[in-house]
Amino acid sequence: MGAVIAPSILSADFSRLGADIKDAEAGGAALIHVDVMDGHFVPNLTVGPAVTRAVRKVTQLPVDCHLMIENPDHYVAEFAEAGADMISVHVEVARHLERTLQAIKDAGAKAGVVLNPATPLESLSEILPVADFVLLMSVNPGFGGQKLIPWVLDKALRLRQSIDRMGLSTRIEIDGGVTLDNVEQVAAAGVDIIVAGSAVFGSGDARGATSALVRKVAALAEQGRRA
Ligand code: DX5
Ligand code: ZN
Repeated sequence: MGAVIAPSILSADFSRLGADIKDAEAGGAALIHVDVMDGHFVPNLTVGPAVTRAVRKVTQLPVDCHLMIENPDHYVAEFAEAGADMISVHVEVARHLERTLQAIKDAGAKAGVVLNPATPLESLSEILPVADFVLLMSVNPGFGGQKLIPWVLDKALRLRQSIDRMGLSTRIEIDGGVTLDNVEQVAAAGVDIIVAGSAVFGSGDARGATSALVRKVAALAEQGRRA
């Protein structure tokens, strides 16, 4: 199966968040990505459990909370309780990563590990079998609308190979700088979930933009099946 598209609400219009999410859903979004920033780990402040709960109310799609926060241990249960189906934490801040992942699972959500662009794949070597998914940042986290760092695609390919070699079912998610122009290259790097923020909600037509991304990725998967 090809990759799915996960619109990030970071670039949505928060005065009409429910409608924006419905539009993305109508365009073929597979899950809704929620960017949580604390002003410490990243130089920006966004949303928390209250908005996660609001997102949960308006969609049946899985809600994917990307925690760009220090002390994620203090909050994972609260995000799960607010309705997150997937919760990911940055390896750069989670000091007791195994415990944090177990806490996410105990709270009933899928547990993800996030790597900044410069954080090596080697930092996953022990924890990979414990993670349900790995989120590779393709920009430095903090803001939407940045440019994708191209060498992260090679990192994604190498992670795909390791996961396959180890016989794991860990999913790979990629986040940052995805556009209609580069989404095929991103999908070709062997990822399962592609986050897109400004490419979806910056366009003024979230439905059309999501469906254009979904169609490009599906066409690539179809080519792959025929080859
Ligand atoms: C960046 C966030 C991303 C962001 C992606 O720190 O984690 O999820 O919303 O936005 P675009 O797709 O605009 O790069
Ligand atoms: Zn994100």
